[in-house]
Amino acid sequence: MAGDSLTAPEQISTAESSDFLADVIAGLSNDPRMLPCKYFYDERGAALFQKICELPEYYITRTEIDILDRNRAEIASQIGANVELIGLGTGAGTKTCILIEALQDPAGYIPVDISEKQLRESTALFQKIFPNLEILPVCADYLQPVTLPSPRRKAARNVVYFPGSTIGNFEPKEAVEFLRRIANVCHRDGGLLIGVDLKKDQHVLEAAYNDGAGVTAQFNLNLLDRLTRELGADFDLDQWRHRAIYSSSAGRIEMYLISEIDQFVHLDEHKFHFRRGEKIITEYSYKYAPEEFAALARTAGFEFVRTWTDDARLFGVFYFSCSSESSG
Ligand code: AVJ
Repeated sequence: MAGDSLTAPEQISTAESSDFLADVIAGLSNDPRMLPCKYFYDERGAALFQKICELPEYYITRTEIDILDRNRAEIASQIGANVELIGLGTGAGTKTCILIEALQDPAGYIPVDISEKQLRESTALFQKIFPNLEILPVCADYLQPVTLPSPRRKAARNVVYFPGSTIGNFEPKEAVEFLRRIANVCHRDGGLLIGVDLKKDQHVLEAAYNDGAGVTAQFNLNLLDRLTRELGADFDLDQWRHRAIYSSSAGRIEMYLISEIDQFVHLDEHKFHFRRGEKIITEYSYKYAPEEFAALARTAGFEFVRTWTDDARLFGVFYFSCSSESSG
């Protein structure tokens, strides 16, 4: 049973706590200090992210849902019938549900998500809504090599769905590498449907990541709480502050945790010193102009087909095709 692989075959991702500890120690030892944003999504983090998606300032989720909803028929006819749909980081599955409903007789659905609880819940829900659809959930960090199962029915092509502008979390160079790996999964006549947050007014962007209710702050600080709960670190959450700024030169939102005082934090034999005002980078969220993103995907071996957007051009849903077998 040779399934498709996001990189090397025969390897199954194992997101173990030893990786977590090693990643955190490496990140806190780095200059500048940084923590991988994938660690936001423990059970509490995933729930807080759901709350972020409903915030008035956070236009991303509702805009993407609205674009899908309005253009579902066109998107589905572009994707075609009898496809194997591979969803990356599909979370609660609200968008994927709209998509699958519109698709013509899909051969199977393979959701890949790092959050086990969400994967279990969304799979159960999808099985109820689409009783005839073969669903093969994979709980994995798709940044690592993952072997994907294949549905029983032979599909016309593979289509990867990567919603939520999660591609924005990659540095542009890494984004190209990641899209190349996706192109390998799509091969033969495949496609990529991807949600991308677009460049816009700085104030709109900064408000989306510094919400008035402080949910994004809780989401960001939960990362330090995780280090304390799961790795035994002694972060005092009262001595840290959330902040997000838009760098127009880099074209990205930069999310930080800032030390309120001069302090030491202990973690596994290590003692980290933080000066007052010192930052830990916890997330980059790149924003693209439509033609910038199309060019990036082209570098990765994709051919631009078309894009759907909202009236205010806040967000873009892009469809690319991948006809050739790409290398890398
Ligand atoms: C899940 C990467 C799309 O960058 O907007 C939301 C995560 N971080 N608020 C984003 C996030 C803070 C989000 N993505």
